[in-house]
Amino acid sequence: MDWLLFLENDLRTRENLYALEKELSAEIDAGLGFKFPDTLSGVPALTTATETWSHLSPQAFQTPYPELLRIVREVDPDFRLRSWVDLGAAYGRLGIVLGKVRPEAKFLGIEIDEGRVQETQRVFTKIGLAPESIRLGNCASENLPVAAVYFIYDFGSAEEIESALRSLQKIAHTHPMRVIGRGKRVRAIIEKNHPWLGAVHPAVHRLHYSIYRSHAEEGPAQE
Ligand SMILES: C[S@@+](CC[C@H](N)C(=O)[O-])C[C@H]1O[C@@H](n2cnc3c(N)ncnc32)[C@H](O)[C@@H]1O
Repeated sequence: MDWLLFLENDLRTRENLYALEKELSAEIDAGLGFKFPDTLSGVPALTTATETWSHLSPQAFQTPYPELLRIVREVDPDFRLRSWVDLGAAYGRLGIVLGKVRPEAKFLGIEIDEGRVQETQRVFTKIGLAPESIRLGNCASENLPVAAVYFIYDFGSAEEIESALRSLQKIAHTHPMRVIGRGKRVRAIIEKNHPWLGAVHPAVHRLHYSIYRSHAEEGPAQE
């Protein structure tokens, strides 16, 4: 087969798979009972200090559930990592996946949009997850909690992401961590400005996300 045709087929297959994962995620959200505000599809967000992606559908600005499942299994194959934080958690999908496949792990989602936090707390309560495991906060300006794993999907501006990564760097002096970067912005910032992530343990790169590890020595599983 002509190699260009091969590549085009491959790209189409990946796009189709991604679209399928988003469709499946929409069905899961509906099954869980999420109620989302109407989105003005195609209308750009007003310029505000905060990037909440509110002009997009929740399927567009959240990581699909199947991908989150792959991430959890790849990052923690041995069920050792006990604390996970999602910086910019939207509707808490990572917490929902962890609740199923790592029920012993503690999840905290920090989200700047109050409506998303309230709706997630409502659904968490309904499905038996702790509602306080998602809370209102600004990851760029507050003290971030210690955790074994941080998930960052392009939550804000480059400056905001940089600020959060600097906070994580301070925490990493005393606490080893894994950082999952999803999206182009956060990965570009890590690759450019944060060699402490990946200096000893080489990063693992996937299509939509990369897994980085701080260089501190690993101790026993963290609480
Ligand atoms: C791209 S979405 C990712 C959602 C989720 N982590 C996922 O992957 O499914 C980014 C989220 O970060 C939130 N956000 C933006 N700036 C933030 C900030 N400074 N602190 C906390 N959350 C923020 C947005 O409101 C949005 O819900």
